[in-house]
Amino acid sequence: MRSIGSACSKNIEKRLAELASFNSTPDQGITRVALSSEDRDARNLIKHWMKELGLNIHEDEIGNIYGRLEGSDPSASPVWSGSHIDTVLHGGKFDGMLGVIGALEAIRAIKERSFVPRRNIEVVVFTSEEPTAFGMGCLGSRALTGELTLDKMRKLKDQDGKSLLEGLIKLGYISESEKLTKSGPLLDLIRTSGEVHAFLELHIEQGAVLENLGIPIGLVTSICAPTDLQICITGKQAHAGATPMDLRQDAMMATAEIALYLEHITINSKSPHTVGTVGKVMVHPNASNAIPGVVNFSIDLRDSNFKIKDDILKDLLIFIERLQIRRKIHTTIDVFNHDKPEDCDSEIVDLLRESCEMRQIPFHKMVSGAYHDAMHIAHFAPIGMIFVPSKDGISHSPKEWTDTIDIVKGVNILTDTIFHLANS
Ligand code: HGY
Ligand code: MN
Ligand code: MN
Repeated sequence: MRSIGSACSKNIEKRLAELASFNSTPDQGITRVALSSEDRDARNLIKHWMKELGLNIHEDEIGNIYGRLEGSDPSASPVWSGSHIDTVLHGGKFDGMLGVIGALEAIRAIKERSFVPRRNIEVVVFTSEEPTAFGMGCLGSRALTGELTLDKMRKLKDQDGKSLLEGLIKLGYISESEKLTKSGPLLDLIRTSGEVHAFLELHIEQGAVLENLGIPIGLVTSICAPTDLQICITGKQAHAGATPMDLRQDAMMATAEIALYLEHITINSKSPHTVGTVGKVMVHPNASNAIPGVVNFSIDLRDSNFKIKDDILKDLLIFIERLQIRRKIHTTIDVFNHDKPEDCDSEIVDLLRESCEMRQIPFHKMVSGAYHDAMHIAHFAPIGMIFVPSKDGISHSPKEWTDTIDIVKGVNILTDTIFHLANS
């Protein structure tokens, strides 16, 4: 392991600010929804930065962007590093962006020292990591595993009813008309093990563990996986004053009961990483004096242990089954994804540790409560993740913040490890 990284803090701060300018909610955090005009403009800026670095750029049919630094042995499987640039609604300017800007900084540092790695190094920007647009996360990285079929791409719709497939066609990523009738996965996207030597992702922690420990670097050992549900409850819309409580079929009260049950079973789980969230609720008719007739809401359930998460999901579905009889309501449940948690590669974690020790930077090994594109890349390549602290443990918020001094440490460790892997 050699210390290669000499990240430029000014460059990092400048690029974070430039990317943050592509935003549909200025003054209310950063909103850059996948495949939106803001996303398209941000993509163009990333490709401009890649061009400035002399990288070979290509994009695949799901819109993932690849910027390749040629190695001396192009036949060897490449090292990848990257993340995403789409955001949640009213989010921050670090989540995802740090991993892309950090990977570009790593390449700049390697080129600045005129080092030529043996393996190609590719900076990867994954499409639609956030579920903001289509209700399911990690669409770009998921497509590389073959799990995302064209049928699913037709079914996943944004709030305007536009499907993921339509969005990709509109941006010119999918053109062949024969694809429009097929139902299977985009076959030429699928990666098999051995095709990518290693994948590294630099990311903000999005929690408070590192800050509470006063440690600047987290080395991720495993990544918790989400199960995303969309539930529609249909009751009976009626008058809020003239309808006695025992005659109601109240869709909102049913939703509230399910949310509280979700909280109960996640708090009492055997795993310390089980979490459950009802983050999105649409009430109809959303009038203060009408009993809600229909409620559409999301459930985000996560754990580091798939068996425990699977058992909790089964428990929850049985509860909802019984509740709909008792409350005389009807429910439709759509399980968007039921993802498996993934471990980071122990050898890569060890290399990251070596760089920390060489640079005398304290580190802490930890589980990631958030999911990341790395979780899907783990299906075909060994992965490693580096965390840097989130101020007050806040993320997915305009208050998201990470100090540049910590970012520079993370980027330098990323650079050392990318270069080491690219010469292994
Ligand atoms: O929700 C997540 O864990 C990720 O930030 N999309
Ligand atoms: Mn996020
Ligand atoms: Mn992220």
